[in-house]
Amino acid sequence: MFRRRLAALLLTPLALGELRAQVDLRTQVELRTQAEIERTDVATMQQALDALAPEQGWLALPSGLPQVLWDDYQARFGLAPEGNEPDAARVGLGRLLFFDKRLSRDRTLSCASCHDPTHGFAEPRKTSVGIGGRELARNAPTLLNVALQRRFFWDGRAATLEDQAAGPLLNAAEMGMPSRDAVVARVREVPQYVQLFELAYGREPTFDDVTRALAAFQRTLVFVDAPFDEFWAGEEDAISADARKGFELFSEHCHSCHLVSLRAPSFSDGNFHNVGIGTDRVDHKKVARAAFPKLRALEDGTGDVDLATIVGEHGELGRALITKIEYNVGAFRTSPLRNVALTAPYMHDGSLETLWDVVDHYNRGGIENTWLDPRITPLELSDAQVDQLVAFLFTLTDRRLESQNEKALRAQRQLAESRRDAPK
Ligand code: HEC
Ligand code: HEC
Repeated sequence: MFRRRLAALLLTPLALGELRAQVDLRTQVELRTQAEIERTDVATMQQALDALAPEQGWLALPSGLPQVLWDDYQARFGLAPEGNEPDAARVGLGRLLFFDKRLSRDRTLSCASCHDPTHGFAEPRKTSVGIGGRELARNAPTLLNVALQRRFFWDGRAATLEDQAAGPLLNAAEMGMPSRDAVVARVREVPQYVQLFELAYGREPTFDDVTRALAAFQRTLVFVDAPFDEFWAGEEDAISADARKGFELFSEHCHSCHLVSLRAPSFSDGNFHNVGIGTDRVDHKKVARAAFPKLRALEDGTGDVDLATIVGEHGELGRALITKIEYNVGAFRTSPLRNVALTAPYMHDGSLETLWDVVDHYNRGGIENTWLDPRITPLELSDAQVDQLVAFLFTLTDRRLESQNEKALRAQRQLAESRRDAPK
């Protein structure tokens, strides 16, 4: 009885308020830089998340999806892995852990510090800043619809969301926890957590259950109910005439990598391509000569691959750092494009500020380099066509995020216009 009641309550905002009072989420470290405080206002982030709650709750059928499709996704994307079938206790626990800064070595960072619910679960800066203000080399991708992906990270080095979550916790440059046991010890500092783990997994807290709960929470963030979907289902007027022309251009120039179908809803082929990002900054041959011997020496541990990928230049090798195949140099996973309007700046290195910049980049044919995907060639789009493609990209935002979409459109348009008017 208690189990059922607490489980049911766990996901309501009211109960979370009470729980938060018990499970004190405030950091115990007083000394924080202004920048850290600014970027981790937990209460605001939690309110933003609550505002997105589907009417029927986070465990119900996601809005906009027919049951039969959802059933199909559950099976094909492994949304209920054995031992981590979602329920209110697991998702509620994952949510608490997601916002909890105790899970970082100096208690200043939570997952939400870089995957901010007020910014499409991505971050409003070029690349991440890890523990102790350490500059990382990659931009944090959105967690929206992360459930509908098959490989995780820009280079696909994690196979499941459960595996993925171990990465940032133990990475010396991200949350910096020294070991799995140290993470469990942090969790045990809070007696209520011990109860909540019992409730969710029927045992004492373990590191694997920390990653399971985080994964269960992230899998609830399904946002696939966009104006584009209505248009696609036959409602011509659901998007503007410009956006419809943009979709035609997209089908011609972009769809082969950013593919979308009922069975593949995320606008990504899940594959890795070099589209000429960052290739002017880095001498890939030099980086490879430095990185590969180190990697070979580390064949048995993955921890340092994690460190190598997100700090310094090695990560610019992209997928090649993982496969050690030259063909994959500078190749990154095709970005899913749903809700992309909210998550500027763009690309693995955050080097493009607006969606206009992204389309301009493709229009120029990327940045020439040895490993550039043969599909990336100059497109010769007019300014009006660039606008149409961008208009289309803004129709991929879920209806629950409409007001954020409008805000992003205004901000990006202003920035893009100021650049276009400026003499080149
Ligand atoms: C210091 C900033 C930072 C923190 C803290 C952080 N992340 Fe990330 N996250 C990133 C960056 C940067 C990437 C991309 C890294 C890469 O691809 O190599 C990423 C990637 C991811 C991905 C892969 C998404 C995809 O599309 O493949 C997931 C899932 C994720 N993080 C979840 C989490 C969780 C859960 C936590 C907390 C345990 C967390 N992150 C903490 C910065 C952060
Ligand atoms: C050859 C495959 C390929 C083609 C063709 C392609 N893309 Fe991409 N796209 C990618 C890859 C790979 C990335 C990630 C690249 C990186 O970060 O280095 C990406 C990233 C993006 C992003 C950034 C998303 C984010 O969250 O950072 C947008 C937007 C985008 N593409 C839109 C388009 C549009 C519009 C077109 C057509 C004009 C297009 N793409 C054509 C493979 C492709």
